[in-house]
Amino acid sequence: MLYTKENWGSVPEGWTRTHLLGLEDLSAEEITILLDLAQRFREDVLESEENRRKIPLLTGFAIVNLFFENSTRTRTSFGFAGRRLGADVIDFAAGTSSLAKGETVLDTAKNIQAMGIDAVVVRHVCPGVPKFLADNLKNCAVVNAGDGTHEHPTQGLLDMLTIRRRFGSFKGLKVALVGDIAHSRVARSNIFALLKLGAQPIVCGPSTLVSPYWEEMGVKVCYSLDEILGEADVFNLLRIQFERQVVRPFPSIHEYSRLYAMNAERLARCKKDALILAPGPINRGVEITPEVADGPQSAILDQVTNGVAVRMAALWCVLTRSKENASAS
Ligand code: CP
Repeated sequence: MLYTKENWGSVPEGWTRTHLLGLEDLSAEEITILLDLAQRFREDVLESEENRRKIPLLTGFAIVNLFFENSTRTRTSFGFAGRRLGADVIDFAAGTSSLAKGETVLDTAKNIQAMGIDAVVVRHVCPGVPKFLADNLKNCAVVNAGDGTHEHPTQGLLDMLTIRRRFGSFKGLKVALVGDIAHSRVARSNIFALLKLGAQPIVCGPSTLVSPYWEEMGVKVCYSLDEILGEADVFNLLRIQFERQVVRPFPSIHEYSRLYAMNAERLARCKKDALILAPGPINRGVEITPEVADGPQSAILDQVTNGVAVRMAALWCVLTRSKENASAS
């Protein structure tokens, strides 16, 4: 079926938000709405010969990718998602912008919005910048594309979609987040989503990078990867975020990878259908070895494809509600 704005359907009534700032505030129902829509975008648009070009749900909308931190996957896939929905997408390059002349983030965003922008997709090193923009920009949808160590909601959603497409449901699943939990916005978004959806998150890594306080939220805390190899259904292998660390949390990369890298020998001790995820960028040989990253149990590139579908769902939902709110006010 060739989809148009008319025959695709409406944003589900259960979605009322004009921003996507994090998964901590979302209900299980709201997360499920986005996952269901993303599944549909993946199957009926991204994998459909008929609908491969564009589905014009956001024709006439303009989106700016406001990235103050580096990105490959998130920026590209938000751009691709917006264009596949028919929107105009503008890429803001922080490195060559007037930030260097002292312009603030809010003034930058307000000036770009004044050009006729309907949505801002923002990534910033400081936690809270997406919320700050959402509070201060009028009639503008804001999507968090990663704010410091706080949240990366669309990464969390694409991880959930990848898990759900493989296992069908979250009930009883044990999902291990391995590595630099302390500095990982991906870990936080995963944990919030997994707890709401009924899975059991496990955080695993050196004690300098894994707080025992996660236990109070119902997360299992573990400091030995070898101990949980046969227990977890999914291993999400997180990058060591040296750029966010003030003090070196372990003596050497060699020591870290000896204890925490997912390699062929460790994978052989996992469940036969254990799923290997990594948000990327991956550091081959540090948190994951090439034979595992490129092996049959790895869904790393499937995660990237799901990222486009998730971002299509998120942009369509928040922009639709934002436009409705602006028209009503
Ligand atoms: N996973 C992720 O956020 O990748 P990028 O930093 O390349 O966007």
